[in-house]
Amino acid sequence: MDNIRYDFIVEKDDFERAGEASSNIKKVLRQLGLNSGIIRRVSIAAYEAEINLVIHSNGGTLGIEIDPEKITIYANDKGPGIKNVALAMKEGYSTASDRIREMGFGAGMGLPNMKKCSDDFYIDSVLDRGTSITIKIFLKDGD
Ligand SMILES: Nc1ncnc2c1ncn2[C@@H]1O[C@H](COP(=O)(O)OP(=O)(O)OP(=O)(O)O)[C@@H](O)[C@H]1O
Ligand SMILES: [Mg+2]
Repeated sequence: MDNIRYDFIVEKDDFERAGEASSNIKKVLRQLGLNSGIIRRVSIAAYEAEINLVIHSNGGTLGIEIDPEKITIYANDKGPGIKNVALAMKEGYSTASDRIREMGFGAGMGLPNMKKCSDDFYIDSVLDRGTSITIKIFLKDGD
């Protein structure tokens, strides 16, 4: 069977549609009949990545690829990049504005949660260029 791949464009500041791409990803996983624990981990990681694209990036793409061994989530954006990735990965670190916090975001838990949901987590960020996140969640027999 060929791998399944979907890519969703995520626009900066588009709070109207924020969460739509990760919700579509969840639907695909349900249709494939994957187990609920896997669906949960992929959905949380994809949602947090999508919201970060909306809030912190200049826009980008959220992608998912499913192969027999694993699910891979890709979040790639076109800036502004993260100055200190180690700091951004810390629980509670957030640069979200008061306006964003009033909307319920900005606890500084998105990146740590993505990592927790992952078997493999890669983040690469170049200031003024963009951020790329790749998350792998491995499938076992029965998933
Ligand atoms: N795609 C991105 N582009 C630029 N900066 C980012 C990006 N993703 C995260 N960051 C930076 O890393 C910080 C931490 O991200 P994280 O997702 O952990 O927390 P948050 O988005 O601020 O709050 P929460 O996810 O809990 O609502 C952000 O506040 C922001 O400064
Ligand atoms: Mg976040």
